[in-house]
Amino acid sequence: MSGGVKDQIGRLPDQLLESPRTEGGTLPPRGRLLIGGVGGSAAAGDILSILLSPERETLTVREGSLPGHLRRDDSIVLLSYSGETEETLQLLREAGEKGLPRAVVASGGSLLANAARGGLPRASVPAGSAPRGALGFLRRGAAALVPVSREPDWSEGARHLRTLRSGWVDATPGPARILVDELKNRFPVILCGDVVSAFAARRWAADFAENAKIPAVVWELPEAAHNRVMAAAREAPKPFPLALIALGTPREAQARRRWDATLAVLSGHGASVFRVDSPHPEPWIHAVGLTAIGDWVSLLVGEGLGVNLESLSLMNELKARLAAGQESPPR
Ligand code: F6R
Repeated sequence: MSGGVKDQIGRLPDQLLESPRTEGGTLPPRGRLLIGGVGGSAAAGDILSILLSPERETLTVREGSLPGHLRRDDSIVLLSYSGETEETLQLLREAGEKGLPRAVVASGGSLLANAARGGLPRASVPAGSAPRGALGFLRRGAAALVPVSREPDWSEGARHLRTLRSGWVDATPGPARILVDELKNRFPVILCGDVVSAFAARRWAADFAENAKIPAVVWELPEAAHNRVMAAAREAPKPFPLALIALGTPREAQARRRWDATLAVLSGHGASVFRVDSPHPEPWIHAVGLTAIGDWVSLLVGEGLGVNLESLSLMNELKARLAAGQESPPR
């Protein structure tokens, strides 16, 4: 693997076409599936959750401990690109103590080594990338460890991403650059109205922070329609201008009605909303497309601001401090 995060993200469609190296079999085909990981690795796990829906219940665990109430039929797949993330290693240990069937996706590190030692199902993905630049590898890795009723059409996913890229980024002036202009000196607020777009919205906010080093918030309907939207009301003081980005289109009729009503009312209050979508009949491909647009937009914003797209200084210091057991600041 070579190049910076921009090149890695550019190779996402090819990553979707690469079968991971797996060993140790797969997880049980039934029961609730817990998906453990944080950051980019958890974002890859979100796609597994869409792939399994509605046939199988999933629960994403983005923290360092298992939920209080486990079920007898629970199993867990753990994703960590580096294989060294504290929280994910902790989940592996705890799941082992509780007797849950476990599987692991990583490019190496202690996570993969421990899984190999225990003979657990595991997928090793190519190393040498930033986790956020390896989402395609991680998605394939996770899907290979869990029996799915229908093999996802990875080539169609790759084709969709390439088509989207040429419409959004390569075209001049493509919608991605128009959105980047809209974002100048404004605070991004990402609106989403269903599970597919909520997964992508979470990734957009992470992308803005990790690539462009700017903050962003997610307004998730229906909850946000009961509180957050007031910050865009005509009487709101708006101490800093908002850039409202409406992500996706809810697939279910009731959620879509709420979505349309929210956008109409926002526009009645003078809020201009930038629509972003990547329609596709397959929910996971729709989600992957929405997420990829966020990757590209955040890279363009970062380039425009002249920031170092690669650097994760603060996050790495935090990880090092946690790994060294220094949870509180030195006195
Ligand atoms: C950095 C990135 C992060 C990591 C997170 C967890 O590129 O995407 O969000 O994913 O810090 O690290 P891993 O994925 O190695 O477990």
